[in-house]
Amino acid sequence: GAARDASPAPDGGPADSPFVRACRREPVPHTPVWFMRQAGRSLPEYRELRAGVPMLESCRRPDLVTEITLQPVRRHGVDAAILFSDIVVPVAAAGIDLDIVPGTGPVVAEPIRSAADVERLRPITVDDVSYVDEAVRSLVVELGDTPLIGFAGAPFTLASYLVEGGPSRTHARTKALMYGEPELWHALCARLADIAGEFLRVQARAGVSAVQLFDSWAGTLSEADYRRYVLPHSLAVLEGLADAGIPRIHFGVGTAELLGVLGEAGADVVGVDWRTPLDAATVRIGPGKAVQGNLDPCVLFAPWPAVEKEVRRVLAEGLAAPGHVFNLGHGVLPETDPEVLTRVVELIHQASAR
Ligand code: CP3
Repeated sequence: GAARDASPAPDGGPADSPFVRACRREPVPHTPVWFMRQAGRSLPEYRELRAGVPMLESCRRPDLVTEITLQPVRRHGVDAAILFSDIVVPVAAAGIDLDIVPGTGPVVAEPIRSAADVERLRPITVDDVSYVDEAVRSLVVELGDTPLIGFAGAPFTLASYLVEGGPSRTHARTKALMYGEPELWHALCARLADIAGEFLRVQARAGVSAVQLFDSWAGTLSEADYRRYVLPHSLAVLEGLADAGIPRIHFGVGTAELLGVLGEAGADVVGVDWRTPLDAATVRIGPGKAVQGNLDPCVLFAPWPAVEKEVRRVLAEGLAAPGHVFNLGHGVLPETDPEVLTRVVELIHQASAR
């Protein structure tokens, strides 16, 4: 917003970090890098800490959240931390009975398919997610000059889990509800937008330096349907963050046709997957927005010379954008060798040094 642009970033501190500067399209000493799913199963120290603790329980323990969030920062020297949590955490806090099943993902006990079901989704306040407030405050102290990224799931991706009852390849039930009962669809998404928006504001008030809205499965929609059924709700989430004065990243997978409208939804930075080169993405997104991405996570399984070649290509294509945050095009796969991630961070910092 205007207030943010008017006040120069203070010297030092996370607001003056390469990551936040790149999000704001300001000059940077090197291209900043972090990885979606950097905190998680690719790290042996994560698996050790999580042994015997269910996923949702670990998200509700500030001591574990703090430690797991810090692990990839210590190990890889990434330019930003991302809060350890999950997109379904605020939905569970809103009263929906769900679990995160290892190897599967979120599973909802009673899927949402009727008006009465939508009523079960009540608004949340900070008291419903006090463990997130507490974890962010402790992380901001621990991280010092390293920025912390907060996040939420966008209404479409959350709705998909709630309507399907779990992960889905086609999102068939979700789309049937969207096309067949548009009023119910919009009522569901409006409630999810409220919940996601409040979850992000809790994190912003506790001190995160940026937020990312994950609409992982939005790429399954045409642009016209995205505009009609999804855009108003994601816009409400991101507009509700405008006053916080922190960069907003908007991400989805398979969104080549949606890059422009993902930016229109109120993003400062648009996440791009590996299918669209960053220079082409920059044209599609239009002026005034930074990009984030877009190394294929599978490249990390190739021999180092191939990894290096791909990293250098992404860096070169990123120069076309007014700001570039290096990332993968989607999350780190659990089988990834963490030493390769560390080496990628070193390469990016060294090859992009201005
Ligand atoms: O490091 C980070 O990125 C921060 C933590 C984070 C998690 N989930 C932890 C997690 C973030 C940002 C998410 C977001 C998330 N969760 C998304 C959007 C990002 C994306 O990947 O598209 C989605 C779609 C979910 C839903 C979800 N939760 C899935 C699909 C899974 C994987 C299921 C599996 O086991 O393969 C989860 C579980 C989950 N969330 C894990 C972690 C570390 C694995 C749980 C474990 O360690 O057992």
